[in-house]
Amino acid sequence: MTIKALGYVGIQSTKLDDWSGFATSLLGMQPVDRGGAVRTFRMDDRKQRLVVTGDDKDGLGFLGWEVEDAAGLETMAARLDQHGVAVRRGTRALAVERRVGDLIVFTDPNGHRVEIFHSPEIASDPFLPGRPISGFKTGPLGMGHVVLNVDNIEVAMRFYRDVLGFHVTDYGLKPYPLYFFHVNGRHHSFAMVGSGKQSFHHFMLELQSLDDVGQGYDLAQLDEGRVAYTLGRHTNDHMTSFYAHTPSEFFVEYGWGAQVIDPATWEPFETHDGPSLWGHERLYLPEDQRGRLREMRLDAARRGVRVPNPTNCAWLDSVIASE
Ligand code: FE2
Repeated sequence: MTIKALGYVGIQSTKLDDWSGFATSLLGMQPVDRGGAVRTFRMDDRKQRLVVTGDDKDGLGFLGWEVEDAAGLETMAARLDQHGVAVRRGTRALAVERRVGDLIVFTDPNGHRVEIFHSPEIASDPFLPGRPISGFKTGPLGMGHVVLNVDNIEVAMRFYRDVLGFHVTDYGLKPYPLYFFHVNGRHHSFAMVGSGKQSFHHFMLELQSLDDVGQGYDLAQLDEGRVAYTLGRHTNDHMTSFYAHTPSEFFVEYGWGAQVIDPATWEPFETHDGPSLWGHERLYLPEDQRGRLREMRLDAARRGVRVPNPTNCAWLDSVIASE
């Protein structure tokens, strides 16, 4: 009875029209007409995945983590309570707003609102993307992943690993501590950067096709200043992606081709090759910081670090592995 996926993300922003344009025309989400000062968006068969509330703030509004059923919700509520976390039961009105059966609400050590829910509502009509994409990789892997900047990584670790039960996938300590956590086969549904700041860094959406990402990259480049990280490939989850500036003060990672892990056998380990194998030039950073990251990539390249080519053939993989 544990958290099984990232279900939804809520953003606070007064820039509702900018967010609508960004989420549909670039990301390819489907707008759901809700009216008022809230915009909601679909990514798959669920009635909503992204919610933008018109609050007079800018940043992360809430994260929605999914459990299997009512018993799973009770287990998580009891566990949080045992650890002294103040848990509130979501009202019926809130469950309707979130399009879920039931939920609990609490605050993480960084002051972010966290919700745990079960029984998301499924739409009766098919997902209609905002631009012609083949679709998002969700299902049992959840909506994608979220990454937070945290000021005290030890305190945040105790909360997310020991209380919520997230599992460390891998971690890097240079140039800053970076911990990645899985709750299903997605390499990470959650990560924390020990940057000393307290903010939302990005959320990631994974596409079914590399061409969806490439065409999105073309669109992003038409929009002056939209690209935050150039196209590149991550060392640990193998994702090929770019990052875009959202209308708010954080990024969206838009990617394809991440590895799926087996949580039953996975052991956490330290990584040493920096965040990216190639690309991901962080256009918004000052040159000295970009230079450090670039040197890590070039060093990995000099050592011939690369992702093994998947064969999509279990028999061939087993032969190669045994050699
Ligand atoms: Fe990411």
